[in-house]
Amino acid sequence: MPMPSKRVLVLLVHPHLEASRINAALARAARDVEGVTLHQLYHAYPDGFIHVAAEQALLLAHDVVVLQFPLYWYSVPPLLKTWLDEVLQNGWAYGQDGNALHGKALRLCVSSGGDPDDYGRHEQQFTLAELLRPLEASARYCGMRYLGHVAYGASENVNAHLSDWAEHYAKQLTALVAGDVPADFDSR
Ligand SMILES: Cc1cc2nc3c(=O)[nH]c(=O)nc-3n(C[C@H](O)[C@H](O)[C@H](O)COP(=O)(O)O)c2cc1C
Repeated sequence: MPMPSKRVLVLLVHPHLEASRINAALARAARDVEGVTLHQLYHAYPDGFIHVAAEQALLLAHDVVVLQFPLYWYSVPPLLKTWLDEVLQNGWAYGQDGNALHGKALRLCVSSGGDPDDYGRHEQQFTLAELLRPLEASARYCGMRYLGHVAYGASENVNAHLSDWAEHYAKQLTALVAGDVPADFDSR
C-alpha cells in the first residue's frame, strides 16, 4: 500500500545564491521533486522585511519543513534568524493557543565550509548536531517532530561532489514526501 503523501516546504536561506555551489545544486534538485515547494527567503524578501502572514500561511499548507542554509559562524544566516523571530509568534507557534505547527516535522539541510564529519573532531570541538540544538529546541518548543539534519560540504573538490549530493538530497526529499523516514535518516 503506498504511503500517504506529505507536503514538503524547503525554505532555502542563502544570501548569495548566485555565488553558491552547494545550495544552488541542492535547490535545483529540490525543485524537481514532486510534492516539494521551494521557497527562497532572500529572493522573496530582498529588503529583509518578511511578510509574516504569508510565511505562516505557507507553513500551514505543508506537513514537513526543511530549513536549507549554509552554516554561518556555527549558526544560521541573518534572514533565517529574523524569520524565526518574526514568523514563530507567541499565540501562533507557541504559548496560549499557539499550536499552528503541532504535529508538523522539521528537517535541516546544512552546507559547511569543510567536511561535516570533521565537526566534533580536530579543531572543531562540537558536532553539527550540538551546534544545531537551538533549531532542534525551537522545533520541539513549537510541538514539531524534529527529524535531524543532513549536511554537505568539502574543503576541496566541491564541484566533484555536487551531482552525488544533489541526487542524495533529492532522495531524502522524496522519502519525506512519501512519509518514509528511515531510522538512520539523521546522518549522511
Ligand atoms: C559569513 C560566513 C560565515 C561562515 N561560517 C562558517 C562556519 O561557521 N562553519 C563552516 O563550516 N563554514 C562556514 N562558512 C562557509 C560556508 O558555510 C560555506 O561557504 C557554504 O556552506 C558553502 O555553500 P554554498 O556553495 O551554497 O555557498 C561561512 C561563510 C561565510 C560567508
